[in-house]
Amino acid sequence: MRKKIIAGNWKMNKTPSETIGLINEIKEKNPAPDCDVVVCTPFVCLSNAVETAKGTNIKVGAQNLYFEDKGAYTGEVSADMLKDLGVEYVIIGHSERRQYFNETDITVNKKVIKALEKDLLPILCVGETLTDREQGVTDDVIRRQTKIAFLNVSKEDAKKVIIAYEPVWAIGTGKTATPEQANEVCAMIRDCIETLYDKDTADALRIQYGGSMNAGNAKELLSKPDIDGGLIGGAALKSDDFTTIIKSC
Ligand code: PGA
Repeated sequence: MRKKIIAGNWKMNKTPSETIGLINEIKEKNPAPDCDVVVCTPFVCLSNAVETAKGTNIKVGAQNLYFEDKGAYTGEVSADMLKDLGVEYVIIGHSERRQYFNETDITVNKKVIKALEKDLLPILCVGETLTDREQGVTDDVIRRQTKIAFLNVSKEDAKKVIIAYEPVWAIGTGKTATPEQANEVCAMIRDCIETLYDKDTADALRIQYGGSMNAGNAKELLSKPDIDGGLIGGAALKSDDFTTIIKSC
């Protein structure tokens, strides 16, 4: 049985002081879940997030990292810096980073490798655009993203990766993939992992759905056999909604 994992992707929202407030609210509504809970905050909020979440089941993640260890990379943040703060997870290859910040399958692969090397758990995002879906290339696009992201990743390390299937057309649009659509792609990703490694690895690895998941639709999505959690954007910014989603596990 795979343990479910609910992660909030705060994107560029909340200041460091607002972070304390939101995490305290989540703590108060303490869902005492049977699943892993992660909040992925902006870099500048991470320190407060780790401090506020200390001693609870809430873990903290970053939304990006750079694949070099240190040096002349103005504006970038390394895996060691995140580890030193007490960060445990890192989102890699979110579609907004691919779209607005020129991330490619290759840079995503380098970041996955660096995160694993430094003992950070990657939440690797893959997903098709509306055009991809309409042209019938969803499977091709997601298999390509997945295969390249796992280049030179060992079997042992592969099991630690969490994949977030996020159809780009569903992110922040209020249009959710149907539970059947979402499960179908998550199952296809699992099949892709089995092809790359083996059944044991595919069965162990957790695959989340993300894209307008909310308090109302989470339960049905999370009840599907190949959906092992959610990556939540908008609904992760409201403690009521986020804790309701956690309870849906
Ligand atoms: P959304 O975002 O829940 O607001 O659609 C999800 C994400 O981008 O991770």
